[in-house]
Amino acid sequence: MDPRLQIRVQRYGWDAAATHYHTCWHRHLKPAHDTLLDMANLKPGQNVIETACGSGIVTLRLAEIVGPNGSVTATDLSQGMIDDLTTRLSETPIENVSAHRMPAEMLDQADDRFDAALCALGLMYTPDPSKAVGEMARVVAPGGTVAATVWGERRNCGWADVFPIVDARVASEVCPMFFGTGAPNALSRIFEQAGLNNITERRQSETLAFEDDTSVLNAVLKGGPVALAVKRFDDETWDGVCSDFLASVAAFRKPDGSYDIPGEFVSVSASV
Ligand SMILES: C[S@@+](CC[C@H](N)C(=O)[O-])C[C@H]1O[C@@H](n2cnc3c(N)ncnc32)[C@H](O)[C@@H]1O
Repeated sequence: MDPRLQIRVQRYGWDAAATHYHTCWHRHLKPAHDTLLDMANLKPGQNVIETACGSGIVTLRLAEIVGPNGSVTATDLSQGMIDDLTTRLSETPIENVSAHRMPAEMLDQADDRFDAALCALGLMYTPDPSKAVGEMARVVAPGGTVAATVWGERRNCGWADVFPIVDARVASEVCPMFFGTGAPNALSRIFEQAGLNNITERRQSETLAFEDDTSVLNAVLKGGPVALAVKRFDDETWDGVCSDFLASVAAFRKPDGSYDIPGEFVSVSASV
């Protein structure tokens, strides 16, 4: 897919997902976010940039870690996500976060400006993850930290059939390289190519627990990367997608109608 087209699909796709994302995914992503924050080992007073910040699930935790003497510059491609984060921030006493619409592969920030750059579950969507990691490395001062988390391997993510199921109805690929960064050492290699040092990679298996059909459909179809595509489906196509997707996760359905779906994450941290 043309990189410019992918950026547009992602931008407006996440605008469409923004109303569902935070509530649908907050709980499921916590273990991966915990690992990212643990590996980043941030300190009070640091200045941190976050790329692909989404609704700010990690942003709010970063704000608390760096405290009033530090700062968080939260960036995302989607204005819908930035608006959602801005509203969320306005409901808290937090004053050390600024939020900006900005693509991860072109950060409008000076070199060496930050102590750390973090990206949670965003690199899979960029047309060129190397460029996005290169930008994180560029804006962090020598000795600082770059850390990112991505979804792991396709075979270890029980919800992964959503892509072929939706792709078949839109005659294109919604997220062509989604699992490219989750293969063994793939993300570490990208960090290496960006000239980063002391690279550490952790892979973790988790269970994503959904209460029922509706909660898994809302999260995966309405609150994720295929949101723009499914928003345009007519009722018949939507029903077909729901039924095919539920069939693809039927093995993880428990007798009470809830789901335990496996998911894998990979986190990498490094120093500049
Ligand atoms: C799964 S959400 C992750 C949000 C947040 N980091 C979290 O962990 O909850 C993916 C985010 O990546 C953003 N995104 C996709 N492509 C991007 C790009 N090229 N540059 C910056 N953000 C991008 C989307 O807008 C979306 O908010």
